[in-house]
Amino acid sequence: MINDLWYKNAVVYCLSVGTYMDANGDGIGDFEGLTRRLDYLQGLGITTIWLMPFQPSPGRDNGYDVSDYYGVDPRYGTLGDFVEFTHGCQQRGMRVIIDLVVNHTSDQHPWFKAARSDPKSKYRDWYVWSKTEPKNATSGVVFPGVQKSTWTRDAAAKAWYFHRFYEFQPDLDTANPHVQAEILKIMGFWLELGVSGFRMDAVPFVISAKGARVPAKPPEQFDMLRRFREFLQWRRGDAIILGEANVLPEDDMKYFGGDGERLQMVFNFQANQNLFYALATADSRPLKKALNATKPRPATAQWGMFLRNHDELDLGRLTRPQRAAVFAAFGPDASMQLYGRGIRRRLMPMLGGDRRRLELATSLMMTLPGTPVIRYGDEIAMGDDLRLKERECARTPMQWSTEPQGGFTKSDRPVSPVISGGPYGFEHTNVADQRRDPDSFLNWLERIIRMRKEVPEIGWGDFQFIPTRTKEVLAIRYDWRRNSVLFVHNLGAEPREVTIEPGAEGEHDGILVNLLSGDHSEPDQKGRHRILMEAYGYRWFRIGGLDYLLRRSEV
Ligand code: GLC
Ligand code: CA
Repeated sequence: MINDLWYKNAVVYCLSVGTYMDANGDGIGDFEGLTRRLDYLQGLGITTIWLMPFQPSPGRDNGYDVSDYYGVDPRYGTLGDFVEFTHGCQQRGMRVIIDLVVNHTSDQHPWFKAARSDPKSKYRDWYVWSKTEPKNATSGVVFPGVQKSTWTRDAAAKAWYFHRFYEFQPDLDTANPHVQAEILKIMGFWLELGVSGFRMDAVPFVISAKGARVPAKPPEQFDMLRRFREFLQWRRGDAIILGEANVLPEDDMKYFGGDGERLQMVFNFQANQNLFYALATADSRPLKKALNATKPRPATAQWGMFLRNHDELDLGRLTRPQRAAVFAAFGPDASMQLYGRGIRRRLMPMLGGDRRRLELATSLMMTLPGTPVIRYGDEIAMGDDLRLKERECARTPMQWSTEPQGGFTKSDRPVSPVISGGPYGFEHTNVADQRRDPDSFLNWLERIIRMRKEVPEIGWGDFQFIPTRTKEVLAIRYDWRRNSVLFVHNLGAEPREVTIEPGAEGEHDGILVNLLSGDHSEPDQKGRHRILMEAYGYRWFRIGGLDYLLRRSEV
């Protein structure tokens, strides 16, 4: 392939070092353990690992409260272990991106300690202060029900400090040029240690104007993103930023930049929420709408497509009745919901343990316009532990085998309880068993990933919806370099026969080659295909016969 925008055709896998694999038996996952699992990840077909925060941290928000940007939390190992890990990835042809959490620090960060205790400290202006309680102190909280305000008084500073998230996460004043210079230095540091880029945490808040007097909808400083990006590419040409920005489609282009000069990748929260709505109601129309709304993007930019992540499934962008429908289908109990807007369960329990629906959802994630981002544990359909608070319920240790603690640790005191008993306990749900079973979800996913990599049209091509005249059935076609593919998904619990005309272009007429099984589809005389979709069925087709390989070698 001529173009090497690797992130366009990557398969990303995100994990927390602390809950992945414990090598030294202290109950906490570590880099040594993770490094031992790289062959597993390579075998699964993962091309890029996204590491959640592993820097020193009091750990009050799963590491998203960093107290030193230039180190590894001693619980996980040393910088040496980190470099062994990135080297191990490199040897296997895998890339690493890491979380970059610079909207705020931990209140235990030396910068904040200096800032609060000494008004003359050079770090004072790195944070956002107010002498009196700002009028808007209780508005704009991110974790309603748990977080009471966005301003807290600090006795030592004799002033109020701004915190978009929990009160132990004081916001950095990102408009301060010294803070910006430090952010670049942090990126530069990790780039030297072998990472291919960053998942930038909470981007809209990083670039938002901050302070006691900003308007209710503070202006964003988008130019900051261009500066980050420029620096990144001066240091390492192929490094990327994948932004966490749950924003409205009308703002997407501001995050990518009109010429693609800002973030290379952004998570598609719009598609994510509407995907779950579509799954809940068997109605593909809102999903189509979301995909059309998020279609405009520069040629070099890419969406990150995901099902679940380490946070709650945020449904805040759906309408109230839509959200109610998703709650009813996937998280009816109050204990399953969070912050009044989301569901905190893992994917498989949400789908009622139904393997067909899990395959459907995963097949959609793999074939919607973007790059798939898989959450650790979802490859074996792990469950959740709703006894744990807030988002912790879906962050339990990886289940490797039927050994005690699921093979995660030799200690009997794991950092977070390993799920045990019932259908999702490690006794039933683990890697070792699924590896041996050719029909397991793990092996299904491995095959799907292999095929996804052979379809670069998804990452590179233009897409269009092909009418199916059935709201339950979604058909999406991609075209790229004279190759075309078609994906058909039945969201409904009933089998359905659909008639599809994949396209008028003469050269594409002909059979639909099924990429996942032997049942190819022949058109009738008018070029129409009748396809019988089983309940929750999915089809991956290459349009226009088997000569595509020939055509592909021409480019
Ligand atoms: C992001 C993270 C979330 C964290 C928050 C504060 O939203 O995904 O886990 O709590 O930022 O850093
Ligand atoms: Ca350990």
